[in-house]
Amino acid sequence: MKKSIYVKTTEAFLKKLDIDFVKKPFVFDDLDSTNTTAKELAKAGSEEGTIVVARTQNHGRGRFERIWESPEGGVYLSLILRPSVSLEKTPLLSFIAALAVTKSIHVYGLHAAIKWPNDVRVNGRKIAGILLESEGDGQMINYVVVGIGINLTIDLKKLSDDIQARSTSLINELNYPVDYHEFLKTFFMKFEHYYEVFQKQRYGEIIDEWKAYSDTLGKNVRVKTMTETLQGAAFDVDQSGFLLLRIASGETKKILSGDCLYFDELNHT
Ligand code: BTN
Repeated sequence: MKKSIYVKTTEAFLKKLDIDFVKKPFVFDDLDSTNTTAKELAKAGSEEGTIVVARTQNHGRGRFERIWESPEGGVYLSLILRPSVSLEKTPLLSFIAALAVTKSIHVYGLHAAIKWPNDVRVNGRKIAGILLESEGDGQMINYVVVGIGINLTIDLKKLSDDIQARSTSLINELNYPVDYHEFLKTFFMKFEHYYEVFQKQRYGEIIDEWKAYSDTLGKNVRVKTMTETLQGAAFDVDQSGFLLLRIASGETKKILSGDCLYFDELNHT
């Protein structure tokens, strides 16, 4: 979408979007990071359902302090949520975001799958990523910013070589451009459904759906956490989204967060 019309059109689109949890949209042409802006808004008291989107980001952030390269043609979206559940359930919000993205991609006939915890991939290449940032007060959540980056019509050649080798986009897979607003609408409808399930604390349903759309379980994996690297068979996720890994000693390790690599793909992940 052209720079000149992006802000106006997207703002108008988001304002008339008939989705309950979408309240106030902030639309930018170029931003450092939609998550950074959403966090500032959340700290200043912005309500649940506040949304920040940008056409491009110049300091897009990924998990583990990585850069999320953000040229035009991507969805760069951050949602502010204030669910009244305990902090330990926040990882499930990244599960529902990954589910909503995956199912939105399925609408176009592509087989998208989730790699634990929340990378969305098509044909073994990453098409979307999710960055959750939250602040809590003791056991309760103050706010959660769910940041979502989706390679919609990105020209993959605009990405650096190593990222390009591991990435794909909808246009690359389909050979035609997906409409940005149509995709957003589908995504918000699906996210709204899962968020309702989350708020009703029907966590088992979220986990079951996540398992149905993930290709991680049953695989031999290597997971890099902040403190160690573990190898083993990924055999389940628990009710809070922790990955359960059976390591060589037969012991089960429970992992909250990490970078997961599949053994059969170690050369190109
Ligand atoms: C990852 O896979 O490492 C997560 C990537 C998350 C990228 C999105 S783009 C919108 C939002 N703003 C950011 O700076 N990051 C997230």
